[in-house]
Amino acid sequence: MTVSAPNRTVLQMCPLLPSLEAGLKSYDTVRLHEHPDPAAFLAERGRGIVAAVTSARVGVPDDVMDALPDLKAIVHFGVGYETTDVVRARARGIDVSNTPDVLTDCVADLAVGGLIDVMRRLAAADRYVRRGEWTPNGYPLTAKVSGKRVGILGLGRIGRAIATRLEGFGVELSYHSRRPADGVAYRYAASAEELAAGADALIVATSGGDGTHGLVSAAVLDALGPQGYLVNVARGSVVDEPALVAALTEGRIAGAALDVFADEPNVPAPLLDLDSVLLLPHIASATHETREAMGGLAFTNLHRFMAEGVLHTPVPR
Ligand code: DGY
Repeated sequence: MTVSAPNRTVLQMCPLLPSLEAGLKSYDTVRLHEHPDPAAFLAERGRGIVAAVTSARVGVPDDVMDALPDLKAIVHFGVGYETTDVVRARARGIDVSNTPDVLTDCVADLAVGGLIDVMRRLAAADRYVRRGEWTPNGYPLTAKVSGKRVGILGLGRIGRAIATRLEGFGVELSYHSRRPADGVAYRYAASAEELAAGADALIVATSGGDGTHGLVSAAVLDALGPQGYLVNVARGSVVDEPALVAALTEGRIAGAALDVFADEPNVPAPLLDLDSVLLLPHIASATHETREAMGGLAFTNLHRFMAEGVLHTPVPR
């Protein structure tokens, strides 16, 4: 059954979760990524497209937005939406939604897993065993996690969930965010540099976008120091990646667990040979349960927009 009138078309920007794509079939949906010349396609079919459904990675670029005169809603599958210019969208009266909350647990789980992995060098130990190199007491000693000082950059939903998990490890927690959070007992650091200077491990959990580019700078990495670890489950752009590569290859920080990179899926070549780095393909939210919940929430946003003209979880103003 087609829920929408034929002139109220939905634009699918990229491949999405199969169950979400199945839901999109309830509407008159066109799939931009299947067209060899998207600009020509939009010039011809752009009118009548009222909603765009996209991923956190792809968003809705300016040129696409500009080619859609009737666009009224942008629905993101993902909590991040920095790939879409929300200010530009709002100036045109276009509402924007994301999928908050449903992925918080999985991203926080992975951040803690990454911290333990890189401090105890689990993935490297696995490779060591598989190479047949196991000799009694042959594997190098690693760093204890419990009791260490952990700084969290960004104390939103995900940062708080990471902190709650780490309380169970008896770590000393501190955080930096734009302003001190109400009712939070963890120590507040006035800058990312101050946070790193007082931490054995720095976990990046801030949202991406304007104002966060290169927040973890060369100076922050220097402040973390040769015994310090970095975990990034946020966005690659939050870290000065060339500075991070230099710090890791020169041993100026002890290690890093990275789920995100500046130019995914490209990973800086010098990192590939380092046992001090855990490299993950942006999988923090990638569990069956979480991705289905994200797909369900994205579909609810689209459905409410098409039926009632409002989004279910609009991004904060
Ligand atoms: C998000 O939801 O923003 C995650 O990074 C997955 O892309």
